[in-house]
Amino acid sequence: MLGPLLLLATLALGASVSPDTHTKNDKTVLILGGGVAGVIAARTLASKNIKDFLIIEGRDELGGRMRSMEFGVQGKTSVVELGANWIQGTQEGNGPANPIYALAKKHGLKTAETDFYGSIVTYDETGPVDYLDALNTAVDAYTNLTVVGGGRVPTKQVDTTCRTGYSLIGAKPKTPADMVVEYYVDWEYAQTPEQTSWIASSWANNFTFDVDQGGFSDDNLLSVDQRGFKHLIQAEAAEFLHPSQVLLNATVRTIAHSADGVVVTLANGTRISGDYAITTFSLGVLQHDDVVFEPALPLWKQEAIQSMTMATYTKLFLQFEEKFWFDTDFALYADKVRGRYPVWQGLDLDHFFPGSGIIFATVTGDYSEAIEALPDAEIQSQLLEVLGAMFPNITIPTPTAFFFPRWFSDPLYRGSYSNWPASFVSPHHTNLRANVGHRLWFSGEAMSQKYFGFLHGAYFEGMDAAEHVVSCVSAGGKCQSLPFVESIPNSSPYVI
Ligand SMILES: Cc1cc2nc3c(=O)[nH]c(=O)nc-3n(C[C@H](O)[C@H](O)[C@H](O)COP(=O)(O)OP(=O)(O)OC[C@H]3O[C@@H](n4cnc5c(N)ncnc54)[C@H](O)[C@@H]3O)c2cc1C
Ligand SMILES: *[C@@H]1O[C@H](CO)[C@@H](O)[C@H](O)[C@H]1NC(C)=O
Ligand SMILES: *[C@@H]1O[C@H](CO)[C@@H](O)[C@H](O)[C@H]1NC(C)=O
Ligand SMILES: *[C@@H]1O[C@H](CO)[C@@H](O)[C@H](O)[C@H]1NC(C)=O
Ligand SMILES: *[C@@H]1O[C@H](CO)[C@@H](O)[C@H](O)[C@H]1NC(C)=O
Ligand SMILES: *[C@@H]1O[C@H](CO)[C@@H](O)[C@H](O)[C@H]1NC(C)=O
Repeated sequence: MLGPLLLLATLALGASVSPDTHTKNDKTVLILGGGVAGVIAARTLASKNIKDFLIIEGRDELGGRMRSMEFGVQGKTSVVELGANWIQGTQEGNGPANPIYALAKKHGLKTAETDFYGSIVTYDETGPVDYLDALNTAVDAYTNLTVVGGGRVPTKQVDTTCRTGYSLIGAKPKTPADMVVEYYVDWEYAQTPEQTSWIASSWANNFTFDVDQGGFSDDNLLSVDQRGFKHLIQAEAAEFLHPSQVLLNATVRTIAHSADGVVVTLANGTRISGDYAITTFSLGVLQHDDVVFEPALPLWKQEAIQSMTMATYTKLFLQFEEKFWFDTDFALYADKVRGRYPVWQGLDLDHFFPGSGIIFATVTGDYSEAIEALPDAEIQSQLLEVLGAMFPNITIPTPTAFFFPRWFSDPLYRGSYSNWPASFVSPHHTNLRANVGHRLWFSGEAMSQKYFGFLHGAYFEGMDAAEHVVSCVSAGGKCQSLPFVESIPNSSPYVI
């Protein structure tokens, strides 16, 4: 039965006849990157009895953008999260569970609830000013935005930006307070409404947070585990991974791909070959040529990679001798410049890190990129100036510690996570996920249509890419490709 079928498939593909499970390559599968997608891809292969794989990771540990740091003056440190910090969407009743939530429970991760709208105070350049009413209006406007955005899909209207959407529903912020409350309801995208797709951001919100739309729940759990949020993925890896299946401190420079497999060259010149490779490198890494493909990726693939956006989300940590700020989880600061140190979170609270003296601000998008270019001392003094404005009756003391990660400049990341722009259409995303030949597969957070940007997006994509590779391995290379579109037509051509 199988013989003629295989032969037919072989003829149809014009491929070589060897139904190889055993080849001259070093490994069956190379997994490029050891973040959530890489670890879950590895677990998926192992569960299907493919053990001859190698995770190749540039840093000295697994976890990727789940990255923590011991922060603070000697003798008074806490482990803070430089990257992902929240489990976004958990589970409601017996509904679908966020797989990151499931891992957190399995590995006993310590988490705390954060109350975005119930535990918040507001400030502007003159000190404390109550504009919580404006915040409620912004929350309503955002809900309306996702509803109206959803209504546009069935009518096949072309996508526009969230800014267009806000304007069409009449939400037109003018004052610093209106701007900062708007920022606070969509900072998740780490870019401005001008830079974000109206439709995709609406479904992204729904699929994670809206139970009626298949989402997990609208809860956000903050990891406060002193082993780091990364503990959940490192503990998961420890259950199945043998040390010989991971190569740390190994930076990939080139990925050569052909019908015979994939050969990876490391920064120190070492070459490692595999029958298959799954790259999980961030969209930013793919965009910046930190890794060179040989031959160059086809144009349809390059266009997809360069058309999605890698956004940046930056947390700026300060530690003081003692807490002098608000007792809520969050505070907003309305500057004349939208996005200038707008959100503050105090960690010196009973349910977080009591006595830690730590507070942090968050900036995103273009503002993140701008501050990365400046020296630490300059950014620290800007932060102290803002705190001085928020607390006019307090002489702001000198911090005992200060740190912020530069995700955008880091050649292993080139940003924090992907964001979907209005000019990016579904076929672009189809092409972003698609394999190139049967040997080279693409995974990672950005490849998730429903959950791009999130940890759970990386998780599902790691599983999915590995499952495709499993079917390739069992079919000796003659497996199903993911769809791709050679050229993406304009459904409403410009008439000039
Ligand atoms: C600041 C910040 C805040 C975030 N907050 C949240 C949050 O609260 N909740 C949430 O769900 N998500 C959040 N995210 C997003 C989440 O962290 C990511 O979606 C997820 O971790 C991506 O996993 P990944 O496996 O796709 O990619 P990665 O974690 O980036 O894994 C890819 C790996 O490849 C390695 N690598 C890159 N280039 C090379 C190379 N040339 N050679 C060898 N190795 C290389 C990297 O070191 C990395 O370990 C946040 C991200 C950031 C940065
Ligand atoms: C990786 O490099 C770090 C720092 O250079 C070193 O401390 C560590 O031992 C290395 N780890 C491995 C597994 O090679
Ligand atoms: C949201 O939509 C509702 C119902 O159409 C409307 O009453 C409300 O004013 C809108 N709110 C905002 C802020 O747009
Ligand atoms: C998001 O969910 C709302 C209902 O909560 C729905 O009206 C809207 O169509 C959805 N949007 C998208 C893009 O799926
Ligand atoms: C190159 O780096 C890899 C990964 O760290 C290491 O295993 C290998 O021994 C190195 N090779 C040389 C020649 O230094
Ligand atoms: C600061 O001090 C002045 C004068 O004592 C007082 O009127 C004002 O309310 C104080 N502001 C704050 C935020 O405590």
